[in-house]
Amino acid sequence: MSDSHLPFDLLGRPLHDLRLSVIDACNFRCGYCMPADRVPEDYGTDASQRLSFDEIETLVRAFVRLGVRKLRLTGGEPLLRKRLPDLVRRLAVIPGLEDIALTTNGVLLAQQAQALHDAGLLRITVSLDALDPEVFAEMSGRRGRVGEVLAGIDAAVAAGFKRLKINAVVQRGLNESQVVPLLERFRGTGHVVRFIEFMDVGDSNDWRLERMVPSSVLRDRIAARWPLHPVQADYRGEVAERYGFDDGGGEVGFVSSVSTPFCGDCHRARVSADGRLFTCLFASAGADLRAVLAQGEDALVAHVAGLWSARGDRYSELRGRPEVRDRRRVEMYLIGG
Ligand code: GTP
Ligand code: 5AD
Ligand code: SF4
Ligand code: SF4
Repeated sequence: MSDSHLPFDLLGRPLHDLRLSVIDACNFRCGYCMPADRVPEDYGTDASQRLSFDEIETLVRAFVRLGVRKLRLTGGEPLLRKRLPDLVRRLAVIPGLEDIALTTNGVLLAQQAQALHDAGLLRITVSLDALDPEVFAEMSGRRGRVGEVLAGIDAAVAAGFKRLKINAVVQRGLNESQVVPLLERFRGTGHVVRFIEFMDVGDSNDWRLERMVPSSVLRDRIAARWPLHPVQADYRGEVAERYGFDDGGGEVGFVSSVSTPFCGDCHRARVSADGRLFTCLFASAGADLRAVLAQGEDALVAHVAGLWSARGDRYSELRGRPEVRDRRRVEMYLIGG
C-alpha cells in the first residue's frame, strides 16, 4: 500500500493534510463568507453533482497514499450532508489516516455529536464569532442562535470529544467586543479559542484591510488581562500560533494569515464537494478529479501526484502584488476554509 514516491511541490512542501468539503450549502450567511445579499437563500449544488460516499472513500484512500495523514471534513456546513456519520465510519478506518476532524458552525451538532463520535470522528472545531446574542445574530446573517451552538459544544463534550477548538473570525467594529467574553467562557474548560484574522478569501465578502484586526493587537489586549507565554507549535506547519495563560487557564491561538503568512510550510490540499482539487485557499480554479476518480485509486494517485508536483502557491506571501491582485479567488464555502 505504501508508495515510495511521495510528491513534493515546487517549493519543496509535502502533501500532509486534506480538507474535504462534503457540501457547499450552509444554514448561516456569515458576512465574511456567504453574504446574504450575494448568495441566494436556496444556494447549494445539486446532490447529483456531489461526490458520492464511494467516490469520497476512493479519493481519501488515494490521498493517504500520497502522504495525507490528517483529514478535515468541511463545507459549507458539513452537518447538512445527509448520513455524514456513515461517511465518517468508512473514512475513519482507512489505514494510514491518523486524524479525522470536522469544522462546523455547531447548530446541528447537538443532534449529531454522539453518532459522529461513535463513527470514529476524533476532533471537532466549532466556529463561534460571538457570545452576545445580538452580535452573534449579526455575524451569522441572522440565521443561527448562539444557544444552539453552545448546546452543540456541550453535546460534543458529553459524547466524548474532550478538547474542542473554537474558531472566531474577528472583524473590526463588528465583534471585537467578543474577544474577552469568549475567553472568559472557555478559559479553563480545556477548549482552545483561536482568533482568525479576517481574510480576503473569495470575491464576495468586500474585504478591506482596515476591517482586519491583526493578531498582535488582540494578543496584547488579551495579555493585559491574562498574562501569556508562547507555546511551541504542535507540529510543523501548524496554522495557529499558540499562547498559554500564565495562570494555568489553558491556551489561546491566533491564525494570522494576513499579518504573518505561513505559506512556507503549507501542506494542505482542498477538495470541493463536487470533486475539484484546490492547492491554495486563494486559488482561482480547481482541477476536476471526477473523470480520473472514475478510473480508480491508482489513476488518481498518479494524477494528483502530478498536480501537487506542479504546485507553487503562496498567495498570502504575495498578497497585494500585481501578479495576484486582480485574480479571481474561489469562494470559501466551496472549500471550507
Ligand atoms: P488543526 O487540524 O486542529 O490544526 O486545524 P487547523 O487549524 O488546520 O484547521 P481549522 O479549520 O481550524 O483552521 C483554522 C482557520 O485557519 C481556517 O478556518 C482558515 O480560516 C485558516 N486556514 C487554515 N488553513 C489555512 C491555509 O492554508 N491558509 C490560510 N491562509 N488560512 C488557513
Ligand atoms: N476570513 C477568515 N476566516 C474565515 N472563515 C470563513 N471565511 C473567512 C474569512 N473571510 C472561517 C470560518 C470558519 C472556517 C471554516 O473558516 O469562521 O471558522
Ligand atoms: Fe457557513 Fe461557515 Fe461560511 Fe459561516 S463561515 S457561512 S458557517 S460555511
Ligand atoms: Fe497555503 Fe495558500 Fe494559505 Fe499560503 S495562502 S498557507 S499556500 S493555502
